[in-house]
Amino acid sequence: MPITTCIFDAYGTLFDVAAAARQAAGEPEFADLKEDWPVLAEQWRLKQLQYTWLRAITRAHTDFWQVTQEGLDWALEKTGHAGKPAMRERLLALYWELQAYPEVPEMLHRLKAAGLNTAILSNGSPDMLAGAVQSAGIADVLDDSLSVESVGIFKPDARVYDLVGERFACASAEVLFVSSNGWDAAGAAGYGFTTAWVNRADEPVDRLPWTPQHILSDLRGIPELAGV
Ligand code: LAC
Repeated sequence: MPITTCIFDAYGTLFDVAAAARQAAGEPEFADLKEDWPVLAEQWRLKQLQYTWLRAITRAHTDFWQVTQEGLDWALEKTGHAGKPAMRERLLALYWELQAYPEVPEMLHRLKAAGLNTAILSNGSPDMLAGAVQSAGIADVLDDSLSVESVGIFKPDARVYDLVGERFACASAEVLFVSSNGWDAAGAAGYGFTTAWVNRADEPVDRLPWTPQHILSDLRGIPELAGV
């Protein structure tokens, strides 16, 4: 069945989640991040994701903005930067305007020009996603941003992936789901989507019952996978 619908994870896939810590570290006011911003970025991301999984399995949902803040607070303390409110505030502000990876606009333009449906499917809350899409300037090449907030549970719960078929009235087999998160690509493959894992950091494949059909090092190969 041909692909009609390309669905993208947001954070880490279209938007560079390390950009907030990297940018803050380059600002004179936060020069004490110069050495350890990569560790801070990694710990922040890891805790943010762990909290989504834990809240999903314990049915203690809250929105992604809250777990993003809670993950940051843990990571700031872990890296010795607790008690620096201006740094915390700056990092959170930068999270609302993360840079898109450089190949994103051209890739989405090609998909739209070929008449495919394009959308984000993300843990992000609707206002976070609107902020990121706007600052990346990609609103005109996306049909929608679907947020887990409409079902009140985080990925990889199947109710999140159900949002795609509900929005676009398409079969799972028509969907190419793209994520840089190995566990998200695996979850979507288990759900029945054709999936592409964007493995920028050349990491091992997650040991889960499902595996992505395609593995790419960036997003440039997506139009070809979608048959464009
Ligand atoms: C998202 C997270 C998983 O955008 O990156 O859903």
